[in-house]
Amino acid sequence: MATQLFEGKEHASCYQKFRLSPSQEIQDMIFSYLHERLNEPYELAVDVGCGTGQSTKFLAPHFRKVLGTDISEAQIEEANKALKLPNTTFRALPAEQVPVEDASVDLLIACAAVHWFEIGKFLKEVDRILKPRGCLAFFSYLPTMEVHYKDRSEQMCKLIKEVDDHMRKTEHEKVKLVRSSYKEIFDAIPYTDKIRRADMFTKTTMPLADLIGLIQTFSTFQTYLRNEPEKAKDFIKTTEERFLEIMEASSNKTEVEVMWKYVIVLASKPK
Ligand SMILES: C[S@@+](CC[C@H](N)C(=O)[O-])C[C@H]1O[C@@H](n2cnc3c(N)ncnc32)[C@H](O)[C@@H]1O
Repeated sequence: MATQLFEGKEHASCYQKFRLSPSQEIQDMIFSYLHERLNEPYELAVDVGCGTGQSTKFLAPHFRKVLGTDISEAQIEEANKALKLPNTTFRALPAEQVPVEDASVDLLIACAAVHWFEIGKFLKEVDRILKPRGCLAFFSYLPTMEVHYKDRSEQMCKLIKEVDDHMRKTEHEKVKLVRSSYKEIFDAIPYTDKIRRADMFTKTTMPLADLIGLIQTFSTFQTYLRNEPEKAKDFIKTTEERFLEIMEASSNKTEVEVMWKYVIVLASKPK
């Protein structure tokens, strides 16, 4: 089952350490879309497939109440440990079952998560809980990225592509929905007021060690680790060594620039 890819406690704690929060650009896009359709004050936001709460936290200041749900108990445990916000609660539940009243939600988000859900059932649940003119935002980073370092960008990008190609061999078929920039998911949304932006990039600077940590949060790496633990650990160690060699650096604290492509789908329920 796809969802079992996120059940491990070690995976959840790796998530908490290395997953990135949505960029300011994503946050601004979501809020400007919402502001154009619904007036403040906002009552309720839901983050479905919230993991350890990396996206849930940016919602908290804007809503009276925020609910984060995830099918993995381990992820919810980490979210509860990491985030102590008075208006935010987390529950371990499948996406297709959100424990809120009909027409009560101003904004529903799913970050790097919607492709794992049973999309038909999930969209019915979304339609039940959104207020008229309430909005949904599904967004995700694509698995391909660029890594830049001084004048070594070409070799760095070549290596990260090799990493992606290698891990692709164990990729779950649901990840294809991300690689196609959520086109199928966008088409399945039954609202006419909807947009999809698949041409967006975000840049982050991070120590090489964090990039290596981030790679280990990917579901494909977790599958590799489960199937061939020794090979997977060796692969990640060798990858770090190869990056350091290209960079002619001795410390994995040396910072690199990571560029991600991402997709965002926004839609609003009719009046
Ligand atoms: C790639 S993670 C993203 C987590 C978080 N939103 C983030 O951006 O860091 C995908 C999450 O979806 C959850 N998930 C997968 N299938 C699910 C389902 N059917 N219902 C609810 N959560 C699900 C997983 O447990 C995992 O935490």
